[in-house]
Amino acid sequence: MELEIKDYPKLIVRPVVVITTVSNSGIANAAPFSLNTPVSFDPPLYGFSCHPAHDTWRNIQDNHEFVVNIVNKGFGELMHVLETDYPYEDSELKHAGLTEERAKTVSPPRIKEAIAWLECKFEQGIELGDHVWVVGRVQSVGVNDAYWKDGVLDVEKANPLCHMAGEFFVADVRGVIYKRAKK
Ligand SMILES: Cc1cc2nc3c(=O)[nH]c(=O)nc-3n(C[C@H](O)[C@H](O)[C@H](O)COP(=O)(O)O)c2cc1C
Repeated sequence: MELEIKDYPKLIVRPVVVITTVSNSGIANAAPFSLNTPVSFDPPLYGFSCHPAHDTWRNIQDNHEFVVNIVNKGFGELMHVLETDYPYEDSELKHAGLTEERAKTVSPPRIKEAIAWLECKFEQGIELGDHVWVVGRVQSVGVNDAYWKDGVLDVEKANPLCHMAGEFFVADVRGVIYKRAKK
């Protein structure tokens, strides 16, 4: 069956991350992103695609740092809160009831409830189509002990959250697909 071209991202199931940044006045910002991937092992580079109007991009241009928080199914019901466009100086983390933890190498906080986190320094921003491809160099990586087994992520326990399109997400190793609450 042939699909409309605009539907192409729906065919690529992508892990959801919540990226935390800080404003010039030190207020934390958090937003979900699914257009993301590691891009290089050495140096360790990570990239995600960000709409240029997002506060995330503004903060990264101002402060050159961000944390990639890898999240699980438990965050699914918080997506509509985290993607809300609150006033610039208002932290989405507080609205979502999430806990800020001090990062080791960068000023944006990491999220305590996340499965794992990558602390990144901004390396490059490349305008690609209607988004900016934001590349960061990974400075420090951590994982919640409970979700690390035999040198890899214990996927069954960690239950990472993946995105298909709009309100449709994928979680659970057995491949259950569920629909999140509407914004
Ligand atoms: C699951 C999910 C994935 C998303 N992925 C992206 C993405 O990859 N790139 C993007 O620019 N926006 C993405 N968004 C939308 C942003 O998270 C949303 O517009 C957010 O309000 C931006 O916040 P900010 O202005 O605080 O940076 C996604 C939203 C959700 C719920």
